[in-house]
Amino acid sequence: MLVLGIETSCDETGVALYETERGLLANLLHSQVQQHAPFGGVVPELASRDHVRKITPLVRTALAQGGAALGDLNGVAYTAGPGLQGALLVGAAFGRTLAWSLDIPAVAVHHMEAHLLAPLLEGAMPPLPFIALLVSGGHTQLVKVAGVGCYEMLGESLDDAVGEAFDKAAKMLGLGYPGGPQIAACAAHGDPNRFRFPRPMTDRPGLDFSFSGLKTFTLNTIRDHAPLGEQDRADIARAFEEAAVDTLLIKCRRALAAQDLDHLVIAGGVSANVRLRQRLAARLGGQVHYASPALCVDNGAMVAYAGHQRLAAGQSEPLSIVVKARWPLPELGSAAPANGDA
Ligand code: KG4
Ligand code: ZN
Repeated sequence: MLVLGIETSCDETGVALYETERGLLANLLHSQVQQHAPFGGVVPELASRDHVRKITPLVRTALAQGGAALGDLNGVAYTAGPGLQGALLVGAAFGRTLAWSLDIPAVAVHHMEAHLLAPLLEGAMPPLPFIALLVSGGHTQLVKVAGVGCYEMLGESLDDAVGEAFDKAAKMLGLGYPGGPQIAACAAHGDPNRFRFPRPMTDRPGLDFSFSGLKTFTLNTIRDHAPLGEQDRADIARAFEEAAVDTLLIKCRRALAAQDLDHLVIAGGVSANVRLRQRLAARLGGQVHYASPALCVDNGAMVAYAGHQRLAAGQSEPLSIVVKARWPLPELGSAAPANGDA
């Protein structure tokens, strides 16, 4: 089964081809970072317009790279939420219409399920059930995974997502957008012992997160030490990253202990963070699973793969174009487990 995957939920146009036997045949990404950078964040209208410009050429290139023609496709998968409404509509309208014109099934993919399944593109499914930490620009969630589509929300952020906190901290420090990789690079030169930032909500039971206080603490530290020199910036970035990573680590360990489970999957853009990966690996060894960095951030491959799993289970969309800016993960229905084709 050959599936075209389309990702347009935010500021990246991703298009990929996934085939049951041969795996990933093409994976193309156009990043809009340069367009949004002057504004310090994503401008939704600019994002939608750029997806419109890029989607057709990317699909053409993906097919050429994969040595496939439109007529070879057996299904089309597109991200239908959560994300920016206008941006989602571009991929959904394109994908649903293409599938209709080819008389093949289409499947609406949940962006966070796609993130969650991305590590399976490179490795086997950990023993079920396992805990997943989903960390992106819009979400910070701890989920118990009993199978593809069987998700129980254990905890989530009550305010900012951790990726959003990275982006805002970077902006306050005068670093570029997106902030996660910039904070990580800057923190590499920082002194871990100069500042200690709070680990929010770790002093009380529960698995929810809150990152707005950490953001305020960062802002106050910046104000107290203005004007900042290079070393101040690096030390603050380091303290911020340590606090964010430590908070995630504490909650992951708590979730594993509470559920009496051993295996943890981390996914979403922030799972590309090297310090987070190192700290979790030091604690959990081979029981922590993550994708290579290119598959942690938004991409079409994860959408093609998640869509493939659902199409293989016989699921498809009716002839309508529906996107959901908000879409709780536990609302997803079950799909057949991976068929060993990862
Ligand atoms: O999953 P993603 O690409 O898009 C969303 O679904 O939101 O995640 C983007 C987020 C951004 O907030 C970005 O700053 C963060 O992931 N990010 C990182 C790193 N790479 C990306 N955060 C920390 N360290 C990184 N290396
Ligand atoms: Zn994402």
